[in-house]
Amino acid sequence: MDEWSSFDTISKGKGIWLIDSKGNKIIDAVGSMWCNVWGHSNSQLVKAITKQTKQIQHSSLFNLTNEPVEKLAKNLIKISPGMNKVFYSDNGSSAMEIAIKMALQYWKNIDQTNKTQIATVENGYHGDTFGAMSVGYVPEFFGKFKKQLFSTIQFPVPNKYRIPKGFTFLDYQNDCLEKIERRFSKKDDIAAFIMESGAQMAGGVIIYPKDFQRKISKLCKKYNILFVLDEIATGFGRLGSMVQYQEQKSVPDIVAYGKMLTGGYLTMAATLANKKVFDSFSGEFNDCKHLFHGHTYTGNPIAAAVANENIQMYKKYNLIKKIQKTSKIFSKYYEEILDIDIVGDIRHKGMLMGIELVSNKKKKKPIKTKKSINKIFFEEGKKQGIYLRTLGNIVMLVPPLSIQENELEMLLSRTIKTIQAAKSKII
Ligand SMILES: Cc1ncc(COP(=O)(O)O)c(C=O)c1O
Repeated sequence: MDEWSSFDTISKGKGIWLIDSKGNKIIDAVGSMWCNVWGHSNSQLVKAITKQTKQIQHSSLFNLTNEPVEKLAKNLIKISPGMNKVFYSDNGSSAMEIAIKMALQYWKNIDQTNKTQIATVENGYHGDTFGAMSVGYVPEFFGKFKKQLFSTIQFPVPNKYRIPKGFTFLDYQNDCLEKIERRFSKKDDIAAFIMESGAQMAGGVIIYPKDFQRKISKLCKKYNILFVLDEIATGFGRLGSMVQYQEQKSVPDIVAYGKMLTGGYLTMAATLANKKVFDSFSGEFNDCKHLFHGHTYTGNPIAAAVANENIQMYKKYNLIKKIQKTSKIFSKYYEEILDIDIVGDIRHKGMLMGIELVSNKKKKKPIKTKKSINKIFFEEGKKQGIYLRTLGNIVMLVPPLSIQENELEMLLSRTIKTIQAAKSKII
């Protein structure tokens, strides 16, 4: 992209701060792409990495196993009600590819060959690989590959900010759910329904209304469709609970974690399956029911060791309770942010806030600029000492989960100054 002639070099990190090679400090307002939990250079996490590095750095999960991954599987099963087995990978997109393959193969394994379609929601996002792009089709990101993607059945998600004319928000939700049930009941060809758990992140920070996810989960059970949840960005406390599907009272068959799994320090993801799904993959070698999938770094012991330490720290420091308390700070700033004339809406849950920029508050028209909004906000944010990255017309605040109250106050007031400064560059 021509507008980026050079990049600042980050050489160090301390807590919520990123420090560049010239010594400038900026707040990591996006938690280094939504994954940082304890801030940078946390001594306990670094120690866990160092300790494991001295033992075994990498050993394959093909025909072998290692202690950290065995322990991690137990930890993950413990925090994930209904889940029975763990399949490791090294990034969220792969974890979702695995979820898709598991869901499709499940029906083949049990000889139900009619179930071949994937249902999903509009503007979901599950990563940048081809399967993930197919099930998480965001037109702005993936339009160029549309012809190469496999087709899915997409349903709308109710967005409180854009309720269709003549509908109440409740009508709108019911309408979305009715559309799903109508299609489910029409033909028994759907293998799985795939969605982000609790909220859509990259698709515009759309937080689902209460009961939306639970009702989809119930419909999946009613129509014998696997329910697959992506908790890569929304689980592990981001929305204020360890496991978002539990808060949503929904019951997945397959669930994926990533990002915050290692505290945001190393690359690892996991796809968990319930017993029903797992059992369908067992059989004699010649039955060929196993899942043909594996990456070189699947089950890396250093990543698993830091993930174990991370999970242990959630408990030790009561992180979920702390997030629930600290995240109340966001609401103190709602009014001030909404008062800015280019801000149309704010959507907040837990340690996530999306600020939607519009050119006309009444018409709710998304702001469009010649230079990218991301570049404008990056530059203005840097002047205020924050690292911001926008997605389309949404300013995303996704800080390290353990951010302190005073630090969050600082981040929010600096964000307000950034939006005000950016305004003159936009209008
Ligand atoms: C909900 C969701 N799923 C999957 C992914 C893909 O994860 P990764 O970037 O680790 O491949 C992301 C990344 O932002 C995400 O937000």
